[in-house]
Amino acid sequence: MHFDILTLFPAMFAGPLDESIIKRARERGLISIDIHNIRDYSTDRHHTTDDYPFGGGRGMVMKPEPIFATVEAVLAEHAAPPPDWPRQRAYVPPGSAVVLLTPQGRLLTQGVAGELSQMQHLILVCGRYEGVDERVRLHLATHEISIGDYVLTGGELPAMVLLDCVTRLVPGVLPSETPVEESHYAGLLEYPQYTRPAEFLGWSVPEILLSGHHAAVARWRRCQSLLRTLLRRPELLERADLTAKDQRQLERLRDALENGQTPCE
Ligand code: ADE
Repeated sequence: MHFDILTLFPAMFAGPLDESIIKRARERGLISIDIHNIRDYSTDRHHTTDDYPFGGGRGMVMKPEPIFATVEAVLAEHAAPPPDWPRQRAYVPPGSAVVLLTPQGRLLTQGVAGELSQMQHLILVCGRYEGVDERVRLHLATHEISIGDYVLTGGELPAMVLLDCVTRLVPGVLPSETPVEESHYAGLLEYPQYTRPAEFLGWSVPEILLSGHHAAVARWRRCQSLLRTLLRRPELLERADLTAKDQRQLERLRDALENGQTPCE
């Protein structure tokens, strides 16, 4: 999978993309990343990339021309448009997506990351200042993504979050058994994890995890997963992948909590 990242601050990406799992995925050729400075595609003498908003108001808005020019340069390396393609529209071939990072976008969830991981090529456009000229959204972006309901100073950190989250879903990046049980996979939060020592500062690991009884461990973990989700993120339960057994378990958990009992023991 190939990522092109378009930004006014390329230096922000040094570090996070050169460590750990992302670094190894790059070295093994599972993903590749190119960073492009939008300013390099601005054609005026001062390499302007922003301007005052029409109609007045606060702050500066990122100009459309340098963003369109950068995306077009990147796309030109990947696929030629069909002969009848209208000149004013960037040709985004199947398997590629132009993703604008914006707090107005679709919320990035594990499901959205899963969809994006099916693409071969993601072009991530990082907005800055007070916003990006609306024509980028209307006529260039194929996706708009937000990483949460808060506003950051720009799309660079969101682009890194998206890249990280999508990369770990690319086949071969993680050991094959990893993702199925972790938080958000079946729409539930993950169960508590422990490692050695079995006792630390007087706090011991739940007995069942030391029992070697795999079926009982699996039951305890499922119960904990349901309990955690019920206590911390109950709204996730509405869309989670639950069996009839899970539903019954949830009922028991609700009863136990109401009666002040400790569930999942
Ligand atoms: N740019 C600024 N804030 C953002 C957010 N929450 N998600 C995506 N892009 C952003």
